[in-house]
Amino acid sequence: MERWSSGAGFILAAIGSAVGIGNIWRFPAVLGGNGGGAYLIPYLIAVFFCALPLMIFELALGRHFQGTIVSAFRSVRHPFRVFGWMICGIVFLILSYYLVIAGWTLGYFFFALSGERISFADFSAGWLPVVLFAVTALATGIVVSGGVRKGIERMSTLLIPVSVGTLIILALYCTTLPGFSRGMDFLFTPDFTVLGSPLLWGAAFGQAFFSLSVGMGILLTYGAYADREQAIPAASLIITVADLGVALLSGIVIFPIVFSFGLAPAAGAELAFTTLPQAFAVMPGGRVIAAAFFLVLFFAALTSAISMLEMSVAALRESFLWSRRRSAAVLTAAVLATGLPSALSYSAADLRFDGIPVLDFLDETIGTLGLPVAAIFLAIVFTWFFSPTRDLLAREIGNGLARIIYPLCTYIIPAVLIMTTAARMASGVDYPGLRNLPGSEFIGPLLQIEGIVIIILLLLAASVVACRLGRCPLAGRLRTWRRRGNS
Ligand code: PFF
Repeated sequence: MERWSSGAGFILAAIGSAVGIGNIWRFPAVLGGNGGGAYLIPYLIAVFFCALPLMIFELALGRHFQGTIVSAFRSVRHPFRVFGWMICGIVFLILSYYLVIAGWTLGYFFFALSGERISFADFSAGWLPVVLFAVTALATGIVVSGGVRKGIERMSTLLIPVSVGTLIILALYCTTLPGFSRGMDFLFTPDFTVLGSPLLWGAAFGQAFFSLSVGMGILLTYGAYADREQAIPAASLIITVADLGVALLSGIVIFPIVFSFGLAPAAGAELAFTTLPQAFAVMPGGRVIAAAFFLVLFFAALTSAISMLEMSVAALRESFLWSRRRSAAVLTAAVLATGLPSALSYSAADLRFDGIPVLDFLDETIGTLGLPVAAIFLAIVFTWFFSPTRDLLAREIGNGLARIIYPLCTYIIPAVLIMTTAARMASGVDYPGLRNLPGSEFIGPLLQIEGIVIIILLLLAASVVACRLGRCPLAGRLRTWRRRGNS
């Protein structure tokens, strides 16, 4: 089993996975769309009472099992490995469109450098986003094939300090803008009246899990590479605080700009690629600031994409005994093919599913609902179906903390996730009675319930095929043959 070279290397790699587009683009967009500071209370509760304990749980499982999400599920019951493959599939689908957005950030970085002004519609209509998506996917594949230390850890150790440092400088600059105090009021003034909305809670939990990369087996994979001496609870706290800090820093950069230039804070997904460039175009030093902002966004996205790819690469290597290089190459080719519809969804090809751009469709279903579903599986299977978990947790993180984390992961976290996910799914149903749920809105008949059901069924089918393939006589013979060849 490969290992991180040091505790700091492990923490930086995990921060690299956590800090990404989710912090710098999605967090301010979701916060702006949910009434600013109103959203902070549910978000902080979600982060510290659910996501952090589950992170400790996942890292501890990883270090105990010394394997991947697939072999960890297999250790509970042999057939459960299908859930492991399903979660790999969910993360892989997220990766496929995440790389497209990462490519956009690279494009906007180049535009800022060259001083060219281009609207998002014009940019996305051409082929450039497809090329940038391919470049980003290849870069991700190359880093992952470099290995745990020389690829993943080295990249995070380089990029995370640069990104955080640049973001701090940008935030300091934003304190001088006229809209700074309005931006801060918007970001930090809590509103207790909206706390009754189940959708607000759902959005907060979804964002917290997405942002911390928790509940998806990525941290389980990273935990397997950690040393016995590594203190998991302390590392988890550092990762969580760093992730939250970067999300807030992004808010401190973005909202003063938005208010100083009379733009709309609730612009949602358009915030980074449409709203902010309008401000960058007219503000003093706007080109440098835009270049720095999009470079940070790209670096953050790259280290997260690396972690998503690593999870499936590790699972393939372990199950099929492939080399790291071969697994990374096959999966990079696969992600290029899978991400193409998302990359084309904003282009002139205008690829849509049920009237919605493919990229948005995947984010609304898999990105928003697939993650909590994966986290529910992870928490329930390892607590309800595996009695040694309580003891192994005590060994990994100490008895005192295990006494808190175990019941949280057994009852509270699954219950909260099931409730908030159900509320979000219900909001997608076109049924008049349900439309009256506080805060619900009808998004589209296929979009949420049917969309996620279709995707999960497809993933299950693919996972069963993957398992069967692993067991079929031909695969077995191939493995023996390769082993002979290696010895
Ligand atoms: N945590 C990353 C971000 O905030 O952008 C995104 C992410 C990574 C989501 C890994 C999901 C995942 F499995």
